[in-house]
Amino acid sequence: MSLRLQLSLLFVLTIAGAVAGGGSSSDEAALLAFKAGFRGSSSSALASWNSSTSFCSWEGVVCDRQMPTRVVVLTLPSSNLAGGLPPAIGNLSFLQTLNLSSNELYGEIPPSLGRLRRLQILDLGSNSFSGELPANLSSCISLTNLRLAYNQLGGRIPDELGNTLTKLQKLQLQNNSFTGPIPATLANLSSLQYLYMDNNHLEGLIPPDLGEFAVLRELSFQRNHLSGVFPSSLWNLSTLTVLAANGNMLQGRIPANIGDKLPRLQHFGLAENRFSGWEGCILWYDYT
Ligand SMILES: *[C@@H]1O[C@H](CO)[C@@H](O)[C@H](O)[C@H]1NC(C)=O
Ligand SMILES: *[C@@H]1O[C@H](CO)[C@@H](O)[C@H](O)[C@H]1NC(C)=O
Ligand SMILES: *[C@@H]1O[C@H](CO)[C@@H](O)[C@H](O)[C@H]1NC(C)=O
Ligand SMILES: *[C@@H]1O[C@H](CO)[C@@H](O)[C@H](O)[C@H]1NC(C)=O
Ligand SMILES: *[C@@H]1O[C@H](CO)[C@@H](O)[C@H](O)[C@H]1NC(C)=O
Ligand SMILES: *[C@@H]1O[C@H](CO)[C@@H](O)[C@H](O)[C@H]1NC(C)=O
Ligand SMILES: *[C@@H]1O[C@H](CO)[C@@H](O)[C@H](O)[C@H]1NC(C)=O
Repeated sequence: MSLRLQLSLLFVLTIAGAVAGGGSSSDEAALLAFKAGFRGSSSSALASWNSSTSFCSWEGVVCDRQMPTRVVVLTLPSSNLAGGLPPAIGNLSFLQTLNLSSNELYGEIPPSLGRLRRLQILDLGSNSFSGELPANLSSCISLTNLRLAYNQLGGRIPDELGNTLTKLQKLQLQNNSFTGPIPATLANLSSLQYLYMDNNHLEGLIPPDLGEFAVLRELSFQRNHLSGVFPSSLWNLSTLTVLAANGNMLQGRIPANIGDKLPRLQHFGLAENRFSGWEGCILWYDYT
């Protein structure tokens, strides 16, 4: 192939890519693929999703002001949506908010969500998603709020999440079936304020690195299978208002000056573990 032909081919491909990637039809096509996933579900929300109006005025859809053909918000919580989430959702590349909580969504979370680099809020909580949490979500680098609580997700929490989601403020993974350890990499989430992992099957030691959170307010991992000595670094999380670790197999002693170390603490739960009392004295045993 001649160089000239290669160059013009490249040109044609680039133009085609720009049209396919930037045109209004691609966001509409992605929304229609989304709608097609719920054929037969009893949702009335999608009735307005018809060709009588522009897709930007469909219920739950908000388009960008500057780029009026690009969807920035898709929010249909509690809308009786029953079905799967199609990979085409990853084509809505301007999306900032995706809130589909409290529906009857099932199947796997599509890895194509990783293409949503502008996504700030992702709420797929209170559905029936299963399979593993795709590591590709670590590419959603704008995320501030990730809520996947109350699903049937399993497998490990991917290490990758901790390395890239530097803007994440709230991570909610409770009431799933996650296994394996709490990834030490989560300590890299320097903006994290709320971390909820209760009611999973997490096991192993609590990584001492978690003591490095700078602004963490609430840390909760009740009712898992975490074991070993509760790392003393966690008593250094002076910004904590909630520390809830009930229902694990944790050991160790609680510092006598915990009030000085965690001055903002309002809720403190370590019951149903194997702690042997306060530092300096043995006040109580708790073997349950
Ligand atoms: C989504 O994007 C992919 C890759 O660009 C494309 O092949 C597919 O047709 C798109 N799907 C929809 C429904 O627009
Ligand atoms: C199409 O959507 C409009 C609102 O956007 C609604 O008033 C109308 O009933 C819908 N048509 C059908 C056939 O559902
Ligand atoms: C998931 O991420 C990998 C690595 O970044 C990429 O190669 C792959 O295409 C992504 N999958 C999807 C469905 O976007
Ligand atoms: C999603 O929408 C529901 C219902 O409006 C709301 O309660 C929830 O806070 C939203 N999720 C996020 C992460 O903002
Ligand atoms: C969350 O899990 C706990 C423990 O398994 C259970 O008691 C509780 O009912 C669950 N909550 C919801 C809303 O499913
Ligand atoms: C993330 O955390 C891990 C384990 O704590 C550490 O080894 C790694 O260097 C950190 N990565 C970044 C990008 O900070
Ligand atoms: C707690 O913080 C103090 C002061 O920053 C530091 O000297 C100490 O090593 C920390 N303890 C742990 C267990 O990380």
